[in-house]
Amino acid sequence: MQKLTDTFGRSFPYIRLSITDVCNFKCGYCLPNGYQKDNSDNRKFLDVNEIKRLAKGLSELGVCKIRLTGGEPTVRSDFFDIVKILKNETGIKKVVITTNGYRLNKISNQISNSGLDGINISIDSLNRETFKVITGHDRLPEIIEGIRNLQNLNFQNIKINAVLLKGINDSEKNFDEWSKFIKINKIDFRYIELMQTGDGLDYFKKYHIPAKIFKNYLNKKNWIHQTLGRDAGPSLNYIHPEYKGKFGIIAPYSKDFCKSCNRLRITSRGDLRLCLFGTTGISVRHLIQRDDQLEELKDLILKQLNFKKESHYLELGKTGLTNNLSTTGG
Ligand code: 5AD
Ligand code: SF4
Repeated sequence: MQKLTDTFGRSFPYIRLSITDVCNFKCGYCLPNGYQKDNSDNRKFLDVNEIKRLAKGLSELGVCKIRLTGGEPTVRSDFFDIVKILKNETGIKKVVITTNGYRLNKISNQISNSGLDGINISIDSLNRETFKVITGHDRLPEIIEGIRNLQNLNFQNIKINAVLLKGINDSEKNFDEWSKFIKINKIDFRYIELMQTGDGLDYFKKYHIPAKIFKNYLNKKNWIHQTLGRDAGPSLNYIHPEYKGKFGIIAPYSKDFCKSCNRLRITSRGDLRLCLFGTTGISVRHLIQRDDQLEELKDLILKQLNFKKESHYLELGKTGLTNNLSTTGG
């Protein structure tokens, strides 16, 4: 089988596929004014058949895991159809999602029955007020209820992500709250260091704080850094014998972060993005219109990989094509 590799020796078993730009939250670091339709781009989001052909091609290139992202992927009315087709008709082994968790209490049964292999939920704070301030929605209770439902249904592989924000969720008290939470819940919690995006410069200046403060906390509390296998991806993981869940850190500005990059991204309109912050984004959509285009599609993706750069160069203040993360799903 051909395999997706780049000129720096990295391989790509993992794709993040955005299926919609639409999101109903207003996270300060992403869509502070809520989702606005981009009138300069009237292409529709990929449909189920396009997604199926794309996934088939990727699977034949050695991709075994697809993460569905948004915007908010569950706002699509055919969301569960997409999951079903990916799981049953494409050869992709693992299908997971990243969600803001809205309506999670209502759709937990469907999620559990859908065949999804995991769920990442964004929860920036366990404090209801703070959650509301960051996301613009007072929906923490329904999300927590949804998590409880999933646990009762014995759904495995629940993760929570929070963006680390200076003065908002970066105190030792905040860290202790999460610590208490994962002590009794088999849920992995990760802080993501805030990334600068094209639209978010002022927000970044105000709220960015290096993930090192959380790292220091973990060291102080005797969390053990877990060294992982080659395909592990850029998250640093920590374990503790007295805790059911793990802690993790995603620190995109740290040295060597890009060395363990194992993912490519595809936007909701079918542009292949080699890097979250890259400046290239060619469309593969014209090659997922008919079943007999599979070889051509694979060829194009393989060729594109040669253009993948070594690093995101974010530390130089470059943000590439990314105005905010709602089109590429973080
Ligand atoms: N910096 C870091 N993380 C971000 N996310 C969205 N925008 C940013 C940003 N500027 C995260 C969300 C979610 C994931 C999809 O991406 O919080 O966890
Ligand atoms: Fe929506 Fe996610 Fe962006 Fe928040 S971070 S506004 S939940 S797309």
